[in-house]
Amino acid sequence: MKKVLFVSSEIYPLIKTGGLADVSGSLPPALQELGTDVHLLMPNYQSIKTTEDIYYKSTIQVNRMDVNILETRLPGTQVVVWLVDYPMFFDFPGNPYIDEKGEPWLNSAERFALLCRVAVEVAMNRGYLDWEPDIVHCNDWQTGLIPAFLSLETHRRPATVFTIHNMAYQGLFSKETSGLLNIPRELWHLNGLEFNGFFSFIKGGLAYADRITTVSPTYADEIQTAEFGYGLEGLLSHRKEDLIGIINGIDAEHWNPKTDTHIVAPYDSSTLSKKQLSKSALQARMALPIDNKVPVFTLISRLVEQKGIDLILDCLPEMLTLPVQFILLGSGDKAFEQQLTDFAKQNPEKMAVTLGYDEVLAHQLEAGADVFLMPSRFEPCGLNQLYSQRYGTVPIVRKTGGLADTVCDALPKTFTNKTATGFVFNDATAGALMEAIKRSVLVYGFSELWSQLQLNGMQKDYSWLRSAKEYQSLYEQL
Ligand code: ADP
Ligand code: GLC
Repeated sequence: MKKVLFVSSEIYPLIKTGGLADVSGSLPPALQELGTDVHLLMPNYQSIKTTEDIYYKSTIQVNRMDVNILETRLPGTQVVVWLVDYPMFFDFPGNPYIDEKGEPWLNSAERFALLCRVAVEVAMNRGYLDWEPDIVHCNDWQTGLIPAFLSLETHRRPATVFTIHNMAYQGLFSKETSGLLNIPRELWHLNGLEFNGFFSFIKGGLAYADRITTVSPTYADEIQTAEFGYGLEGLLSHRKEDLIGIINGIDAEHWNPKTDTHIVAPYDSSTLSKKQLSKSALQARMALPIDNKVPVFTLISRLVEQKGIDLILDCLPEMLTLPVQFILLGSGDKAFEQQLTDFAKQNPEKMAVTLGYDEVLAHQLEAGADVFLMPSRFEPCGLNQLYSQRYGTVPIVRKTGGLADTVCDALPKTFTNKTATGFVFNDATAGALMEAIKRSVLVYGFSELWSQLQLNGMQKDYSWLRSAKEYQSLYEQL
């Protein structure tokens, strides 16, 4: 049985800002079920939420800091979670990346370099935890220094896997920062942590990990091009033999319309008409006219450029002339937040906006809406289009990354062979998105076609089992 130390900056339900947390909270239990011994490692943030007990395990010294390691379980599972407890860095309100006021932490580099150093100690069994992993599985830039540090170990070291969840976030800091953090000089060169004169966390993963994965096959190809590689496409295509795309799964229990405790009337594909009850409840909650005939569009997202929010804003004047309602839940860029709120104020009969982060509302939207909008400019995998298909909510997506790999466009041919699950458009333009929106409104008018789209999506299997097996066979090769 392989032993895997899985390191991540966010893990659902302990703390979440996006899909990385969903994956870090659901892939490890799936691996454990398949017989892999997985232990998780994450910082002990102040805002961690858990119902499980937390115990003190050990104290280690890294870079002249005394750090405690605490132990708990991933709620509802037997998976062990080790928490890096260093109050001077982590005992503050806010999320892993921004403080209470929404400003990025000024000491992000210090915080995640510490996470990486502790991971190395645990990986080398120097954390007084009496456990020696075969593999360290790192996720995104916050863990990028781990493969780099481990490459300097002279004793037998575990193998490393680095998963890219998003190339747009690279952890770039000044050269001076690397000095202040005592980063070994051997790592400072063009094939190492240096990137255009900056100190790059993500390059630690890309240059030094034994294997690189990303979260969909299409994104694995895309990041080898200048458009999506942000200057690292050369390094990625140089490493293409070690790079694979494994599509994310979903927590099929947590996102299950049949057992979802957040919705008024659970349903599945055989009781799909009950979805209407969630729709009316949602319209009532949002103070929109309660009307079952009008299609309800939704969007749940970080409000950032990646997600194509500008395309939505450009479409809204025309979209709101159609017989539709639009309910949005999100937070992020203040200008986007303001413009969306303004639109909702001007169209109270048609549009409702909730700013902030709300897990319960996210479930109610998946259950109550008819159409899910995801016009991302790029999308490494994307989870909401998968949740939507499970809930019979038809996604409209742009053909990129994991969206291209998981949504099949509604065409005469795909209706006939029962593969159609949504609406797919190509160009990142408001015109192309608008055309897809109009297509969806048209098909919505034909209830038989619409329910076929819903059922095709609901019958797809996006549980972790298949993808977890792919990770497992990757671990076996190492
Ligand atoms: P990303 O990780 O790029 O944000 P994903 O689609 O992979 O995109 O995952 C986003 C996750 O975060 C989903 O589980 C989604 O429901 C959730 N989410 C995003 N914004 C919010 C919000 N404002 N409230 C509740 N959940 C949200
Ligand atoms: C990132 C990506 C998203 C992906 C998630 C989990 O945040 O933006 O597409 O689904 O990570 O892998």
